[in-house]
Amino acid sequence: MTVYVLGALNVDLVTRVPHHPAPGETILGRSDGRFAGGKGGNQAMAARRAGAEVVMVGCVGDDELGWAYISRLQDAGIDADQVDATTAGPTGTALITVSDDGENSIIVIPGANESASVPAGFVSGEVLLASLEVPLSVVAETARAAHEAGVRVVLNLAPYADLPADVIALADPVIVNETEAAQLTDAGLRPASVVTTLGSQGATWTRGSGEVAREPGIAVRRVVDSTGAGDAFCGALAAALAGGLGDADALREANAAGAQAVSWQGAQPDGAI
Ligand code: RIB
Ligand code: NA
Repeated sequence: MTVYVLGALNVDLVTRVPHHPAPGETILGRSDGRFAGGKGGNQAMAARRAGAEVVMVGCVGDDELGWAYISRLQDAGIDADQVDATTAGPTGTALITVSDDGENSIIVIPGANESASVPAGFVSGEVLLASLEVPLSVVAETARAAHEAGVRVVLNLAPYADLPADVIALADPVIVNETEAAQLTDAGLRPASVVTTLGSQGATWTRGSGEVAREPGIAVRRVVDSTGAGDAFCGALAAALAGGLGDADALREANAAGAQAVSWQGAQPDGAI
């Protein structure tokens, strides 16, 4: 079954540094290059790598990077008919700093992603995967429409923002990392179905107060760049669910995909753009 991915398409400008600069500190870095990114684009590519039919929903600028990104999606076999090229803003940009130990920090300048709109054409049995670098009102409206149409809604609350309680409640699952899990708890929101990624410690899936699945961390020989590992996890999870796998099997696939993603430079394999 098809996975719809709603989210941002960014161009990542990646700088390698010995350590992350502290406020007020100046350090020397070296450019790693320019890569296709954005949580939406990364998740779509990951779902596609996992074998799903994928429809990408989002917005790039009507500019060379935007067109290049659309071609990249199409070359991967992703349906990009619902990716608009808007004149309302430039293709989104992410300023990413990766330290020698593979940890990253990211600043996103949304640009065209602000113009993302609600997709059309949901068919019962499909899966929607959405992340939060596009307007929250669009995510909420899309999730409700999808749910109404019998589409399973998977919500990656990244970067964290409070969604309406009814939207959180219909997601199966909400996917968060440990930081986002704490933010969710602080907001008083208790999703019925939550997958929590634990970095090198693997991931868990809980329904209500019961843990239904747990995957241990996978030892990675060399961490090159952790950027996009969470997105690879989300995309693979959505693909597995669309393929009919149960919670435990889907979590295993996602965990493996997340671990694999730290081994390549940039958020997507061969991601230079
Ligand atoms: O999750 C990683 C992604 O976050 C990067 O590709 C960057 O574009 C930001 O969206
Ligand atoms: Na990576």
